[in-house]
Amino acid sequence: MSTLLLSTFVCSLVSLVLQTSLSADTLKPNQTFVEGFTLISSNQRFEFGFFRPGNGSGGLYLGTWYHNLPLTVVWVANRNNPIRDSFGQVALDEKGVLFLFNRSMGAVWSTDKIPTMGSFTPVLQLLDTGNLVIRDDGGNRTIFWESFDFPADTLLPNLKLGWNLDGGLNRIIRSWKSIDDPSEGEYSFSLEPPEAPQLVLLSGSKKLFRWGPWDGSSFSGITSLTTNPLFQAAYIYNSVEVYFQYEMLDDSILSRFVILPSGLIQYFTWRVNISKEWNLLVTINSDPCDNYGKCGNYGICYTLSSCKCLSGFTPYSPPDWGLYSYSAGCKRGHELNCGHGDGFVKYNALKLPDNPIVWANYTNHDCESECLKNCSCMAYANVNVYGNGSSCIVWIGDLVDLKNYPSGRQQIYVRMAHAELKSIKNVKRKHERVKIVSVTTVIGILLLSGGVAWYIRWLIRHRRKDQIGQTSKAQHSGSFQYIEENQDSGFQLPLYDLETIFLACNNFSETNKIGQGGFGSVYKGELPNGQEIAVKRLVEKSIQGIEELKNEIILIAKLQHRNLVKLLGCCIEGEETMLVYEYLPNKSLNNFIYDKPTRKQLTWTKRYHIIKGIARGLLYLHQDSRLRIIHRDLKTSNILLDGELNPKISDFGIARIFGTDQMQEMTKRIIGTYGYMSPEYAMNGHYSVKSDVYSFGVIVLEVISGQKNWSFHHPDHDLNLLGHTWMLWNKRQALEIVDPTIQEPSYGNQAIRCIHVALLCVQQYPEDRPKMSTVYSMLSYENMELPEPKEPGFCRESHSRKFDTSASDSSTVNEVTMTTLAGR
Ligand SMILES: *[C@@H]1O[C@H](CO)[C@@H](O)[C@H](O)[C@H]1NC(C)=O
Ligand SMILES: *[C@@H]1O[C@H](CO)[C@@H](O)[C@H](O)[C@H]1NC(C)=O
Ligand SMILES: *[C@@H]1O[C@H](CO)[C@@H](O)[C@H](O)[C@H]1NC(C)=O
Ligand SMILES: *[C@@H]1O[C@H](CO)[C@@H](O)[C@H](O)[C@H]1NC(C)=O
Ligand SMILES: *[C@@H]1O[C@H](CO)[C@@H](O)[C@H](O)[C@H]1NC(C)=O
Ligand SMILES: *[C@@H]1O[C@H](CO)[C@@H](O)[C@H](O)[C@H]1NC(C)=O
Ligand SMILES: *[C@@H]1O[C@H](CO)[C@@H](O)[C@H](O)[C@H]1NC(C)=O
Ligand SMILES: *[C@@H]1O[C@H](CO)[C@@H](O)[C@H](O)[C@H]1NC(C)=O
Repeated sequence: MSTLLLSTFVCSLVSLVLQTSLSADTLKPNQTFVEGFTLISSNQRFEFGFFRPGNGSGGLYLGTWYHNLPLTVVWVANRNNPIRDSFGQVALDEKGVLFLFNRSMGAVWSTDKIPTMGSFTPVLQLLDTGNLVIRDDGGNRTIFWESFDFPADTLLPNLKLGWNLDGGLNRIIRSWKSIDDPSEGEYSFSLEPPEAPQLVLLSGSKKLFRWGPWDGSSFSGITSLTTNPLFQAAYIYNSVEVYFQYEMLDDSILSRFVILPSGLIQYFTWRVNISKEWNLLVTINSDPCDNYGKCGNYGICYTLSSCKCLSGFTPYSPPDWGLYSYSAGCKRGHELNCGHGDGFVKYNALKLPDNPIVWANYTNHDCESECLKNCSCMAYANVNVYGNGSSCIVWIGDLVDLKNYPSGRQQIYVRMAHAELKSIKNVKRKHERVKIVSVTTVIGILLLSGGVAWYIRWLIRHRRKDQIGQTSKAQHSGSFQYIEENQDSGFQLPLYDLETIFLACNNFSETNKIGQGGFGSVYKGELPNGQEIAVKRLVEKSIQGIEELKNEIILIAKLQHRNLVKLLGCCIEGEETMLVYEYLPNKSLNNFIYDKPTRKQLTWTKRYHIIKGIARGLLYLHQDSRLRIIHRDLKTSNILLDGELNPKISDFGIARIFGTDQMQEMTKRIIGTYGYMSPEYAMNGHYSVKSDVYSFGVIVLEVISGQKNWSFHHPDHDLNLLGHTWMLWNKRQALEIVDPTIQEPSYGNQAIRCIHVALLCVQQYPEDRPKMSTVYSMLSYENMELPEPKEPGFCRESHSRKFDTSASDSSTVNEVTMTTLAGR
């Protein structure tokens, strides 16, 4: 600006009226204000004026912050030109230019000149969004300038982070130099380049972190912050503008992304009238794997562990399995030979690599053939970038910045040499072989269990004779009768009367109580004939009628297996429903394994026997019995041990008794125990046989290590037993988890196999976990090839990070089953 123009404007300031009202959100031409006066948006959310960061020694700044909150600055006008002489004045001239003057009336900062046009009346206004605008006060209220076009370190809702291709404007956010110094710091976060649907964190021109690509509802690479009923985000692409933007649909929640002077990108929320401080919801780039290109070309970064090469590739330098050891990257097993049989191999669960290019004009089908034609096209994917259906994305040149990202359901197809495709076909064949092996073992087990079933039937027949003997004795005292099942082979279940059970259990006194489970307490008792029993007194009411209930109990009682606790009978009277089980003197597995003195009795051979026994029992429940029973609360305290330390599963089938068991169900009632519950069950109430498989995997690791998953402690990290095992597994040191009281010299191979199987069982996604039949084969056949496990679900959930239990209707103690009415 010419000094002449400036001085005439300065002269005109003499006639200014100092009209500053505290609640005004606008400033008119010829009005001015100084420190102490502010504009406040009409919704009382934002405030614009002078502020002094830190102790004020850095100077005076003009900016926007939240009204009535601890000073949280969201925008700074003169971030690189503080006023040092501690006096500042703001004025809007008649041409719509906003000025910041120092004491000597030098313009420290100003907005751009507005191109001349017809007459108009400019006005400065602080909008409800926090956007400061200069607009036409009359006419059609066109906005000429807005602070959202020049963001500071904060991304507010509705701010367009990205490009206006027309004017070459690029909106980026850039960190402060330090928390007291708003001047431009080292880090910037932007849509870069404009064609790529992803955000990058740069230090200077060096890429540090990449967020993306956008897939229609979230950025690949981070699971939190997907579009949800409160948080709506979009990536907008048209001929004029390309930007990322988000909005909050609930306006009682304030939110902001900020890029800290340290380069961390954090997302905060504040509930109006409720919060006392900003709530840090997520740090976007907190994972070591978020460091750009950590594992080099074609290397995949695994959180908690190390780099691995994409299959078909090998490391340039030999791996040492240390943390992220070969950033040199990976090379192809077979060189490409473009046009001579190259093809594509599909990979799942990856954060998509850097430098995505959208070929918007190709359909999904053409995507593959077009990529194949172009010899530098190394991969393609179909991604819903614009939210209007999937688009073809391709990668030209080597793939870099891959991260293992199990919750990303994105698939990428990577170009491979003909020879590699062949060997991958061989891999497929190998898998088929595994399948054949497991099918034959299943058949074997079926045959075996057929034999067992025959043996059981034989036993029952003989036992019934005994029972009839017992009955006649008992009927004299009138203490019980049989429930007779109409349709079947005369199977009878003793129906005890209430008085007998009360007497046997000493009126359910506390001293007789031996356990507490999800559906009620368990008491020890003794029948008049001297037989010891365990009685489960169910607290809950069945939704079925008495007859249905009885039938259901008969069905359960018919499940007989040497690894299941035997149901002897039941008692249904008035409000009471009780199940009578055989009593096992050695109590449950949890009394053994976590306790130092007794766990010495558990040699490796015994533990292995116990693991296989539980697997057999569970297999029987899942598929060998006529009913398909999902246990839903499998844990060490539900595994009882008989005199020879044979494991027996208890508490099965109770969900059925309450009429809630189906093959796979979404349930409002979550019954399970923290530490054993699979992610999909704990979070969404989805359960299936695979949620039992997850619990089984946890139990195996607990039996091997003598440690509780839930209360596991390690000085170096906050992982639970699963996470710890997974970390050691990736370092090839998994045997470190084995209980040191195990002295047998030769347990190693079996133990590593058990750990491997357990890790397969606790994988995050149910579809990745093996079925119990496969688990049993894996444990039994040492030559059977096992797939590599993926990261477990719930690596960190432990006593230090519990679930939100506020919604539960029964309080939760570590060992006790919890019952929650999840609000979904
Ligand atoms: C602002 O001041 C100038 C110079 O004194 C005057 O010409 C103009 O009319 C004033 N504008 C308004 C809107 O008061
Ligand atoms: C104010 O803060 C700056 C930087 O944090 C420091 O160097 C300075 O000594 C402080 N001044 C006073 C008066 O505390
Ligand atoms: C006021 O600002 C002008 C223009 O930036 C500058 O030349 C002048 O030195 C400043 N005065 C003081 C006292 O800082
Ligand atoms: C508003 O006014 C501006 C400037 O006079 C003009 O360019 C624009 O087309 C107008 N817009 C509408 C919607 O009338
Ligand atoms: C917050 O409190 C103020 C004053 O009590 C009230 O006017 C306003 O509606 C409240 N806002 C929300 C979102 O509850
Ligand atoms: C699609 O776009 C690419 C690159 O923008 C271009 O080379 C190609 O000719 C286009 N193809 C069609 C069928 O429009
Ligand atoms: C391959 O595609 C890229 C990106 O569209 C393009 O720049 C390059 O020229 C193409 N190469 C060939 C050989 O077509
Ligand atoms: C989806 O949106 C993009 C960007 O706006 C556009 O280029 C593309 O043609 C759209 N596709 C469909 C199928 O509508």
